[in-house]
Amino acid sequence: MLPLVALFLLLITMAAGAPDLRPGFYAETCPDAELIVRDVMEKAKAREARSAASVMRFQFHDCFVNGCDASLLLDDTPNMLGEKLSLSNINSLRSFQVVDEVKEALENACPGTVSCADIIIMTSRDAVALSGGPFWEVKLGRKDSLAASQKDSDDIMPSPRANASYLIDLFDKFNLSVKDLVALSGSHSIGQGRCFSIMYRLYNQSGTGMADPSIEPNYRESLYKLCPPPVDQNVTGDLDATPQLFDNQYFKDLVAGRGFLNSDETLFTFPQTRKYVRLFSQDQNEFFKAFAEGMIRLGDLQSGNPGEIRYNCRVVNSRPLDILFES
Ligand code: HEM
Repeated sequence: MLPLVALFLLLITMAAGAPDLRPGFYAETCPDAELIVRDVMEKAKAREARSAASVMRFQFHDCFVNGCDASLLLDDTPNMLGEKLSLSNINSLRSFQVVDEVKEALENACPGTVSCADIIIMTSRDAVALSGGPFWEVKLGRKDSLAASQKDSDDIMPSPRANASYLIDLFDKFNLSVKDLVALSGSHSIGQGRCFSIMYRLYNQSGTGMADPSIEPNYRESLYKLCPPPVDQNVTGDLDATPQLFDNQYFKDLVAGRGFLNSDETLFTFPQTRKYVRLFSQDQNEFFKAFAEGMIRLGDLQSGNPGEIRYNCRVVNSRPLDILFES
């Protein structure tokens, strides 16, 4: 868990010295950027439906760790442990090749112009819209980080075992409200999770040796079938009853005690978050509006650290000094 002081310092640096973000940032320098991104995302989704969920998840895992700077996309190097193998990401984040494909298409059209950080923001938006969810205008103009930090990702990213009061406090540190937390959790309207993420919830909730009592009994039986002991941690199950459709089914499922993760169902068991779960379960438009607003706020997180436009999202650009020392 991230010490409060460290989080405070992190937030102090957020935005100071960061570039101004605005819609249409590439209108002159790469006018087709958004069309190119959408085209690649559409093809990726047609190839594998789940890739929409996997790609849209990047925005959360990138932006929470030192701002939206594509640090998430950096591969490990001998001198740097990146974020791909952090606790929340290892054996879990997937579809990095979709971002590579988008980057390649953009490099062909407008070399050295569109940042990987902006690609994450655009692909997330398109993944949601292509799955039946809302469309929103994205602000662009981010720079890519020069480094990544596995430790920061480990310290910051929440566990699926987290409860609502922990999540409320965590989101608050990023200036995200209780409503933002609930709306953004609605991203679990698409995609899947592993048995690994619900093992404790099924077999030893809070050290009781029993299942979480908030799971509806028929759903609990289906989860036992999905993840029988000894649990194969990599088997996956759907995060809601309509895992390819971005809709408000996720919230209807929570009301019915059919949330997949502890961090999902807790939003209905806690009074502070329950009213938003109810609202979104009854009114999809309210959910879509709150979700788009939340994604824009999430996309505003910036560290203010120096950055660049990477040529390849997986590695930082080589610097003159690196070249000097190359044999
Ligand atoms: C509120 C705190 C959150 C927690 C604790 C959490 C945790 C998780 C976990 C454990 C999984 C399944 C991973 C696995 O078992 O391999 C998952 C999947 C997913 N998460 Fe979250 N998440 C949270 C919020 C968010 C947010 C804010 C977004 C996006 C804005 C998001 C998007 C997704 C998506 C789309 C998937 C499915 C990915 C796929 O099918 O590949 N999550 N999340």
